[in-house]
Amino acid sequence: MNAQQIRQAYLEFYKKRGHKVIPRARIVPENDPTTLFTGSGMQPLIPYLLGQKHPDGTRLTDSQTCFRAEDIDEVGDNRHTTFFEMLGNWSLGDYFKQEQLPWFFEFLTDVVGLDPEKLYVTVFIGDSKNKVPKDTESAEIWQKLFTSKNIEAKVVEIGSEADGYSKGMNDGRIFYYDASKNWWSRAGKPENMPAGEPGGPDSEVFYDFGTPHDTAWGEHCHPNCDCGRFLEIGNSVFMQYIKTEDGGFKELPQKNVDFGGGLERIAAAAMHSPDVFKIDLLWPIITKIQELSGKQYQDNVQSMRIIADHMRSAVFMAADGVTPSNKTQGYILRRLLRRAIRQGHELGIENGLFTAIAPLVIDMYREPFPETTKHEKTVVEVLEKEEKLFRQTLRKGLREFEKLAKAKLDGRTIFTLFDTYGFPPELSVEEAKKQKIQIPDNWQDQFNAELEKQRERSRSATAGMFKGGLAEHSEQTIKYHTATHLMYKALRLVLGDHVEQRGSNITNERLRFDFNHPSKMTPEEIKKVEDIVNEQIDKDLPVTWKEMPTKEGLATGARGHFGEKYGETVKVYIMGPEDNPYTMELCGGPHVEHTGTLGEGGKRFKIIKEESSAAGIRRIKAVLQ
Ligand code: ALA
Repeated sequence: MNAQQIRQAYLEFYKKRGHKVIPRARIVPENDPTTLFTGSGMQPLIPYLLGQKHPDGTRLTDSQTCFRAEDIDEVGDNRHTTFFEMLGNWSLGDYFKQEQLPWFFEFLTDVVGLDPEKLYVTVFIGDSKNKVPKDTESAEIWQKLFTSKNIEAKVVEIGSEADGYSKGMNDGRIFYYDASKNWWSRAGKPENMPAGEPGGPDSEVFYDFGTPHDTAWGEHCHPNCDCGRFLEIGNSVFMQYIKTEDGGFKELPQKNVDFGGGLERIAAAAMHSPDVFKIDLLWPIITKIQELSGKQYQDNVQSMRIIADHMRSAVFMAADGVTPSNKTQGYILRRLLRRAIRQGHELGIENGLFTAIAPLVIDMYREPFPETTKHEKTVVEVLEKEEKLFRQTLRKGLREFEKLAKAKLDGRTIFTLFDTYGFPPELSVEEAKKQKIQIPDNWQDQFNAELEKQRERSRSATAGMFKGGLAEHSEQTIKYHTATHLMYKALRLVLGDHVEQRGSNITNERLRFDFNHPSKMTPEEIKKVEDIVNEQIDKDLPVTWKEMPTKEGLATGARGHFGEKYGETVKVYIMGPEDNPYTMELCGGPHVEHTGTLGEGGKRFKIIKEESSAAGIRRIKAVLQ
C-alpha cells in the first residue's frame, strides 16, 4: 500500500468500527491562540476531550494535516518533516485500551500488511509521585496480540531514554519507559503541563528497519534510540487525566483515547524504506527537483529533502490563508519559502521553483483535501510573488554587499544589509567566505546587539498605542467599533474563511481594518460587504456580551484576533440572537447596544478605500455617512 491507499484504508477501517470521519482542521488553528499551528490531530478536539459533546458522536476519525515548526532544523535527515498527516481516531469517553490496541495492531498487520516481527511497542512504567499506575493492562494486551501472531513478546523495563542506551534491547518486544517517553500532553511530560491541560500515559508502536545501530547516540540501541533503526509509527494516548491547580492530577470526567499515527511514516514502513522521502507523497516532488536542477537525489539529499518538505508546508499554509509577512505564521511561511529558494539556488535552480512545484503538490492532495485545489490559483500567486520578491532582494542585497564589504564587514554591516535590504545574515556570511572577506568572530553578537536596539526603538514607537485599536471612547468611535465587527463577519462571508483580522484602528472619523487576502477586492465584493453590513444595521440586532473562562469562550466558536493571547477569562460579544448570532467575537468592547444605532439619522455604512497595506494584507477604510 502507498500513502494515499493507507489513508483511505485507515478511514474505512475506523468507519466500519462506528467512527465518523471528520474533516481536517486548518493548519492555522481557528480558535486556539495558544499555538501558531495545528501540530497534532487532537488539538482541534480539546474541548471534546475535556467533556463537551461533539456533534458527530463519541467515535471520530480523520487525517489531520500538521505542521511542527520546532522540527524545521531537523529537516534534511531521512525521516523528519515539518509537514505531515496524522491519522487519528478518538474515543470520547467511549472505548479504551481493550479496543484501541488490538484495532491498531490489526490495521498495521492485516490491512497495511506490516510484518509483526518488525513491530516493537512501548508502555508507561508508572509515576508514583503523581499516583499514575504502571500500565500493565496495555502490556498484557500487547502480549496477547503478539502471541496471536506466534511471536513471543518479552517485557523489558527500561525507564528513561538514557537507561535505554545502557540497557539495550535484551530480546524485548514490549518496553516500559517513564513519563519522558510514554506520557503525552501538548506540553509534554507531567511537570511541564499547565493547570487545566489534559494528558495521559501512552503506548507507542515502532517499526524496525533493521539498520545497524550507530553508537554515536549511545552504547546500545533501543526503540526510543535516535539512530534511525526504529521509527515511531503510531501513538495511542490514554487521555484520562487533567492537571490541577495544586500541581497534581485528577481523572477527567471521561476516559478518552487520542490516537495519532504518522501517515508518511507508516507508508515508509510499508515500503520498508527508512527514507520517508521515497514515499508517494514526497517522491514526485523530489523527481521534479531533479528535473529542474539536472542533479541527482543521492548527491543532494539534504537540499532536495528541505525543498520537498518546505513546499508541502507552504502549500497548505497558503491554502489555509497564510501569506508571507514578518509576523507570526506569515513569518514562518516566509522563512520556509526563502530557505527553499536558497536550497534551490544551491542546486542551480534560479527561477520558477514554486510555479513548478506548487501545482504538483496540490495535485497530490486533490482527492483527500479538495480545498487545496479550490485555492490553487491563490496558492500559486502567493508563492510566486514571494519568490520574485526574494530573488529581487537577493540581487539588490548582493549589490549592497559588494559596496559595504569594500569598506568593512562586521555584525553591524551584516545587520544593515538584513534590516534595510532584507539580505539574510547567513547569505552575507556565505558570500564573505566565497570572496575570502574577513568577518570578526563575534559578528553574531554585534548583529544581535543591533537587533535588540532596533526592537527597543519599535517598542518605544508603539508604547502610546491604544489596546484594541480604539483611540477614544466617544460615541462615534463606539459605533465604528461595532461596525468593525459587522464588517469583519461580512468580509468572511464574501471573501472566505481565510480572512483574519490583522489590525484595527478607529477614530471618530472612520474605521480602519487590516486583514489577509491575496488580491484586491472587486467593486462587486465591496458592494456586497456594504450591503451585508447595512442589512444588519437595518435588522437592529441586539448586542450583548458574556464573560467566561477563556477555554469556554474559545470553544463557543467566537473569533479572536489573529495571534492574540488571552488571560483566564474573556469577554465574548454577541451580535444578533444568542441562539443564532450573526457574529461572536472575543473582545473587550465597548459597543452600542443595538446595531440600529449605527443607522441613526439615515446614515449608511460605506467603504471609502480598499488598498494593499503589506504583502497579502488589505486595508479598508469605512465610514457611516
Ligand atoms: N496526540 C498524540 C500525538 O500527537 C497522539 O502523538
